[in-house]
Amino acid sequence: NTARLMLDPRRRVAPVPRRLFGSFVEHLGRCVYTGIYEPEHPTADPDGFRRDVLALVRELGVTTVRYPGGNFVSSYRWEDGVGPVDRRPPRLDLAWHSLETNAFGLDEFMRWIRKAGAEPIMAVNLGTRGTAEAVDLLEYANHRGGSHLADQRRDNGATDPYGIRLWCLGNEMDGPWQVGARTAPEYGRLAAQTAKAMRRFDPALELIACGSSYMGMPTFGSWERDVLTEAYDDVDLISLHAYYQPVDDDLPSFLASAEEMDRYIDSVTAIADSVGAIRRSSKKIMIAFDEWNVWYQSAAPSTPPSGEDWPVAPPLLEDHYSVADAVVVGGLLISLLRHSDRVTAACQAQLVNVIAPIMTEPGGSAWRQTIFHPFARTARHARGAVLDVLRDGSTTTTDRHGEIDAVDAVATWDDAAGEMAVFLVNRALAAPAEVTVDLSGAQVRGIIECVTVGGTDLDARNTARGPDHAAPRPNDTARRVGSDIRLTLPPASWSMARLT
Ligand code: AHR
Repeated sequence: NTARLMLDPRRRVAPVPRRLFGSFVEHLGRCVYTGIYEPEHPTADPDGFRRDVLALVRELGVTTVRYPGGNFVSSYRWEDGVGPVDRRPPRLDLAWHSLETNAFGLDEFMRWIRKAGAEPIMAVNLGTRGTAEAVDLLEYANHRGGSHLADQRRDNGATDPYGIRLWCLGNEMDGPWQVGARTAPEYGRLAAQTAKAMRRFDPALELIACGSSYMGMPTFGSWERDVLTEAYDDVDLISLHAYYQPVDDDLPSFLASAEEMDRYIDSVTAIADSVGAIRRSSKKIMIAFDEWNVWYQSAAPSTPPSGEDWPVAPPLLEDHYSVADAVVVGGLLISLLRHSDRVTAACQAQLVNVIAPIMTEPGGSAWRQTIFHPFARTARHARGAVLDVLRDGSTTTTDRHGEIDAVDAVATWDDAAGEMAVFLVNRALAAPAEVTVDLSGAQVRGIIECVTVGGTDLDARNTARGPDHAAPRPNDTARRVGSDIRLTLPPASWSMARLT
């Protein structure tokens, strides 16, 4: 297989949205309890946060974290999670059939996220609750003081307002599994009304309306159209959620999951723009891909408890990722970056233990899953502007996506550092790809580093004591030939080349 990529730092798609490298912490399974928070853990800091996990979160390079759900938020009372811990009520979490102790809530999350060096994305409950409670939460979080709820926050130890800018208006409100699910016009009206009320407090908030839970929803398309018909002027972004897994062991189609992500983003962009065009609006609705990842949804750990069993922080959705999954995650990041003119925020779901790049043992170690590596490298090195990559080369045929380019790629150019980063995936299972990066339009002098994940051991996984299987390894094939860079991508692999 061969591929030719034509790059020119003058042909830019958009600045790299730093919020693309977001993550997600939900009160689900062991994401919060024994994930980011475990006061009894040997590495716990005075706030009860695991320092070993915080260090990995910083290394991962997460820029934003969505909280507190997910399905959890749709029956959550945020007030239960603030104030003296010994007076917080334990509650039944209807989403995951677990007992929520409320030992960790908004104030703990805000302390934690500061230590993580990231920006919060706060979700409000529009399932069992409505506009009033959303505005209450906003007052508690963002008002400086002198009002009932802002003073409560101050009494609880947070003198300064949190200044949370980005808010999700509910979660997956189209899903029959969602507590308080609604029809699109019902939800659209509630989202518009809640957004209007929140903007009376602060017009500069950035508000995300719920799009479809996934592209296969029966209401996909009409949902986005109807919600935006109600809420177009009141919201800034619409959410997309998508989880990928191999279907019928079809690895070639799975490796090319980014094709599906591309189509999903392009479809929602078209629908949003059509609503805007009908309204003769010059405003563009942006996309928050605020849940995405590989998730083996058919696997046993996804099944929540039932009946009389309401455990605290049970192990749920604890997928153990393979090297092939890491290649897919690298490919999905390429798709997100390629669309950075419209996708301005994204959250890998989730951060710790629950379909996550970081795993922990209660009381024990924390380690990087395979999918950690492409995320961390992309978050660190995709800087400056996203470039428009012209691709030409061999194709490969997959059952689900038809004939596709064997090599997918995106590139970024950082003016300040004079650095280019090229991210590539070879989706062909059987053949390596000989890639030529044509840089005739760029002043690139040399290769800083070239690393690869995958190519071999596609089924290998990391464990608490096991090796770091998908740690990027040097790709020594990268060389400069005239104004081109040439490199070889092993079959089924993700790579990053940094040039200067
Ligand atoms: O991330 C796991 C769950 O997936 C979230 O709670 C929900 O929003 C989605 O269906």
